[in-house]
Amino acid sequence: MTSTATATIREPASGRSPRFVTTSTPAEQHHLARLLVLHGELRGSAERAAESSRALGLANTLLARGARILMVTGASLEAALPAIEGAIEREPRRRLHLATAGGQHVFGFDHRGRPVALAKPDAGAEDVLAFFLREVAAPLGIDAEDVLVVEETFGPSVIADVLQRELDLEAQMGPFAPPRDPTWAIVESGFDVAREHEIESLLTIANGYLGMRGSLAEGSSVSRPATFLAGAFEPSSDVSPVPELVIAPDWGRLRFTVEGELFAVETTTSMERHHRTLDMRRGLLLREGIATGPGGHTTRIRTVHLASLSNRHLLLEGVEIVPQNFSGTVVVDAVLSGDVKSGSGSSHWASFEPRHGHVGPILVGRTHGGLELALASRTTSADPGSMQMRCDRQLGPVSAMERCTLHVQLGEASVLHRVVGLFTSRDGTTPVQRVELLEREAATTAFDALLGDHVTAWQARWKQSDVEIDGAPRIERALRFALYHLIATVHPNDPRCSIGARALSGEAYRGHVFWDTEIFMVPFYVHTWPEAARTLLLYRHLTLDGARRKAKKLGYEGALYAWESADTGDETTPEFVRSPIGEVIPILSGFEEHHISADVAYALWAYARSTGDERILREEGAEILIETARFWVTRGSFKADGQFHIDRVIGPDEYHESVDDNAFTNWMARQNLRYAIAVARGIGRAKAVALGVTPEEIQRWEEVAARMYLGRDPRTGLLEQHKGFFGLEYVDVAAYSPRTVPIDVLLGRERTRRSQVVKQADVVQLLALLWDEFSPDERRENFLYYEPRTAHGSSLSPGIHALVAARLGLLETAARYLEQTASIDLGNNMGNAAGGVHAAGLGSLWQAVAFGVAGLRTTPSDPETLIVEPTLLPGMRRVSLPMQLRGRSLLVHALPGAVEVHVVDGTAPIGLAVNGREGAARTVRAEPGRAYAARREQDGFLAWEEIEP
Ligand code: BGC
Repeated sequence: MTSTATATIREPASGRSPRFVTTSTPAEQHHLARLLVLHGELRGSAERAAESSRALGLANTLLARGARILMVTGASLEAALPAIEGAIEREPRRRLHLATAGGQHVFGFDHRGRPVALAKPDAGAEDVLAFFLREVAAPLGIDAEDVLVVEETFGPSVIADVLQRELDLEAQMGPFAPPRDPTWAIVESGFDVAREHEIESLLTIANGYLGMRGSLAEGSSVSRPATFLAGAFEPSSDVSPVPELVIAPDWGRLRFTVEGELFAVETTTSMERHHRTLDMRRGLLLREGIATGPGGHTTRIRTVHLASLSNRHLLLEGVEIVPQNFSGTVVVDAVLSGDVKSGSGSSHWASFEPRHGHVGPILVGRTHGGLELALASRTTSADPGSMQMRCDRQLGPVSAMERCTLHVQLGEASVLHRVVGLFTSRDGTTPVQRVELLEREAATTAFDALLGDHVTAWQARWKQSDVEIDGAPRIERALRFALYHLIATVHPNDPRCSIGARALSGEAYRGHVFWDTEIFMVPFYVHTWPEAARTLLLYRHLTLDGARRKAKKLGYEGALYAWESADTGDETTPEFVRSPIGEVIPILSGFEEHHISADVAYALWAYARSTGDERILREEGAEILIETARFWVTRGSFKADGQFHIDRVIGPDEYHESVDDNAFTNWMARQNLRYAIAVARGIGRAKAVALGVTPEEIQRWEEVAARMYLGRDPRTGLLEQHKGFFGLEYVDVAAYSPRTVPIDVLLGRERTRRSQVVKQADVVQLLALLWDEFSPDERRENFLYYEPRTAHGSSLSPGIHALVAARLGLLETAARYLEQTASIDLGNNMGNAAGGVHAAGLGSLWQAVAFGVAGLRTTPSDPETLIVEPTLLPGMRRVSLPMQLRGRSLLVHALPGAVEVHVVDGTAPIGLAVNGREGAARTVRAEPGRAYAARREQDGFLAWEEIEP
């Protein structure tokens, strides 16, 4: 129900100021407000009560949809609260702000729905709107043009109408509506040739089965569209022709011809309001643009693309066309194109066979390696009753397309739906039949329902993963970006594929799998999506034969995993690469970077400890741990000092090659041996016999583990990164910043090798992984020694520094590294996001927040107790995150004065521990369904108390 008194919106003179609702004539609204500022009394007189409650109810709905609202009232907090508490639910209330006493005091609401005062300088002196825009809206990334102000003169019925219209507009936009909450959106506006490749990476949509870069659907002179098929490889055309991820035919391609003129960013006369938005909550790529062609026809086009998370073979595309100043004809070509090449210049496809399918065209292709693919498309009108559209099929030598001709009417939206299906011979023997079946089934379901299933699947993932950070919206958004890509890139039940260094978003590293997966990403899955973590570990079991072959080839026993792995597990590290200036550089990692075997073992063990999945340790895991242990005992040797040494390796710091006794490698190898010993002792005779393990062999592992050289200086507690490191030249890394080039390029490879400049966390990485092996002094001393020597030449480095610095209580350092990690892709601060997002960096951002800032960890001695030692960084008012631990779902809130843990789900209690005074642990057995809080006192926490969940 709407009242007759309505208001109009005064568009701002420039895009820099808010829009104000001013008069009482009907309003024209074109884009959604992200922040609404509502003046007025909340309770009002009795006759206005109904309208007030309508307004509050609508405000609740808008807040739940991600809008921010600032209510400005003349009343006091006490007077205003009852109406708010009665109408606005607890979750949406977090996005509500309240300015009381006419704007003198401003409040937000915490996770329990309680008001929290915001420090407003000179109470009342500054205009509340100016204060709010600067302090709250701007840090959230809300532009003034996304702010709608309803001024004082209007009563609740006008406010209710404005809110209703906002909701109506959103409903009318349907799936094309961008998220109202900027912390859930990555928005790229305009078109910038120089940034286009980077943007394509950031806006990738994926579902673990495939990933599509966020290229412009109609292309541009620089567009590099690519759809990667997870786990499928073909040879590259690089200097070393290693395998690279297969690039499928382009399925999302569209061509728009408006009254005979092409709609494209580079050829139209003007393109206004051109935005591409990654809606991370719903897993959608949205686009909007208003283009005017040379003939003066102005058209607004919106698109939506998604790779379904509920059916990974389904890809959806929606198009909305609204002529702004004409009625006429628009032709839309929806193309399946086999005209694709990889960045290395390779064409993976040996042949194509375009066909007429039962419901739409099909493109069948076969790679040189024999992979068969079938891609089908079906384009329909969203409203066949009233929309005039005719689609013809056209088959070319390597393409199949639908050409749809639409008669469009001035100001009216014509909407097209396209459903694309994709199967390959990796999914079974008959991809063509399967894709046809999929299309037929999809034809019986409404497009919105297919889209809804996908959104529901994303919602389920976010429920298990989303991290909220009050007071640091940039980091919160960057985390969502990280989790979006991590969720999108994993296949939770196909162990034939793991995750490449750049996920499914770009061609750098050719889709190869590194330690990045186990050490940087797996922890996130372990604690939010254990099935996905298990599948990733099973990939290492499936590729164990490749690891055996590599060990054998290099003269060792057991299994040595490929430094870079693809489908078979054989080594795929290129032996040579070409530098940006054309130099051919040898790469030794494939021969010498052996810590990967111990990294896999570490991840496996950590997974089993954190999930309670003992089965994997008895079965596939046992084989991995035993085979990798066998490798280590043959990889090193006992020397005259009676200790076991591992020579000629590369540690995480790749600036130093062929070094002896890299501390990281030796310590991790020792862990690997310890895990193997524990497992070999527990698997029972039959399994031990099957794996050929004898008591003598276990004894040998024990000896090697016990006498492993660890490089620890007993005087200082420092670990020497590798033998001779302390004697190398000290270089003040900070003196070279800011820099845009890697430090090894500035110093030259030779000098870097002879210096103490460290590429990335190496000893610091070890601290993060084996925290309980080191004393508090050792952790601190080693961090303080290595941090200034580290150049962060890899995206894997800053996140781990943030984690360790936060745990050590080095707040400013942790905040700086967290910011650096958050900007690797979103700020392109390594300059190479064009090659894809940095998946390990994304995983390290989550770890820095979960394990560093929130301070969550378990100890080897007690995996059934979660230790919570939060260190909120400057500005942070709350960090909340869900966490799975040994079958329980927990929700942790780290607050300035307390920690709260809610055991949301589980069948048995779990231990929670905080540090009390002088480090004494305070623990509680937390029961499922209940919530607990420990309040902070000066130098520790008080005992846990039970609280309302
Ligand atoms: C890093 C490695 C990493 C690889 C892939 C290299 O630059 O040094 O640690 O595994 O990139 O991300």
